[in-house]
Amino acid sequence: MSITKKRVIFLDRNENQYGPAPACYRVLRRSNKSTLKDYSRDFTRGVISILSERLAKDYGIDEKKILLGYGSEDILKESVQCYINKGDKIMIPSYSWWYYKKIADEAEGVNIQYPIVEGENTFSYDVEGMLKIYEEQKPKLVLISSPNNPTGNRLEIDQLHYILGKIKDSVVVLDEAYSMFDPKYNTNPVELIQKYPHVIIIRTFSKYYGLAGIRTGYAFLGANHERLSLLSARYLGFNRLSEKLAIAALDSPEYYIRIRNKMSADREKLFKELNKFPGFRAYRSYANFMLVKIPVEIKDSLKKYLTEKDIIVKFMNEDGLDRHIRITLGTHLQNRRLIMLIKSFMKEKNRT
Ligand SMILES: Cc1ncc(COP(=O)(O)O)c(C=O)c1O
Repeated sequence: MSITKKRVIFLDRNENQYGPAPACYRVLRRSNKSTLKDYSRDFTRGVISILSERLAKDYGIDEKKILLGYGSEDILKESVQCYINKGDKIMIPSYSWWYYKKIADEAEGVNIQYPIVEGENTFSYDVEGMLKIYEEQKPKLVLISSPNNPTGNRLEIDQLHYILGKIKDSVVVLDEAYSMFDPKYNTNPVELIQKYPHVIIIRTFSKYYGLAGIRTGYAFLGANHERLSLLSARYLGFNRLSEKLAIAALDSPEYYIRIRNKMSADREKLFKELNKFPGFRAYRSYANFMLVKIPVEIKDSLKKYLTEKDIIVKFMNEDGLDRHIRITLGTHLQNRRLIMLIKSFMKEKNRT
């Protein structure tokens, strides 16, 4: 199958299938020669960029507390590279984005796992288990992902405060790439960085804002992270077009609330529908994806079937998650198509 075919539906990388707000396309149409040919002059104005300026204004904090990067991937890497030397310990959730381990390896860090445990229809952080490992291992850096990819669970706000209050002697990187999909979940990054100077809170325009292609992420820095802020500063500025696109997205809250509501309703439907298939177990998720355990004997044939029908979901291979698929929520129509296809697959399977 050629993956360049237009009609292939990619539900494997947690992109937002609705795409960005209309205002972003207007920015593209109106971008002018200067945006393309000139460097940003923001550095000489004493700010990082128009985007960090805007985020600082929205959140009511000093612009120096905002860090920008080429996606949150970039900021994760910079944080690890800044603090981890060969042999330093990094704590990473047992089930997590595979890339965390790679980032730790690149810095020659020693990767220590802490537990995320499976329940009936949900995964959860084992907070006491995590703190016990922390006390034993005294790592230099602790990575927390909330909501976590691929398990979809998150830490509640009181749990976050509890953990941050205990893990005081390490750098804590809190990856909130998916935190905006639930309007009721506001970890209040400004309060967190003011209370916990060791924390770095990372967010992105890739997921909620549907702008994965512009590679723009940002972080809120606690007071201990001046060095990281200096290391990531760019005299010649950031991508000027991306900055404008991100600001257009920030200016379009109604659009994003509308699609978030659609996605929440669809996530609930998908959860119910998937749990009806014999041997399937869908897990509750607070993000724009859902982890699903499937009968191991259908793994290969389901993958082949969906791929032939031009729909790609992620078939997991990680330890402990090797009979699982991770489905990115699509548009309403894409989700219906996926369920319809799994239904016909299961019907055919029962016949053979
Ligand atoms: C948990 C998590 N953090 C960060 C990222 C990186 O996102 P980006 O670099 O596009 O901001 C991803 C991408 O899928 C992710 O799953």
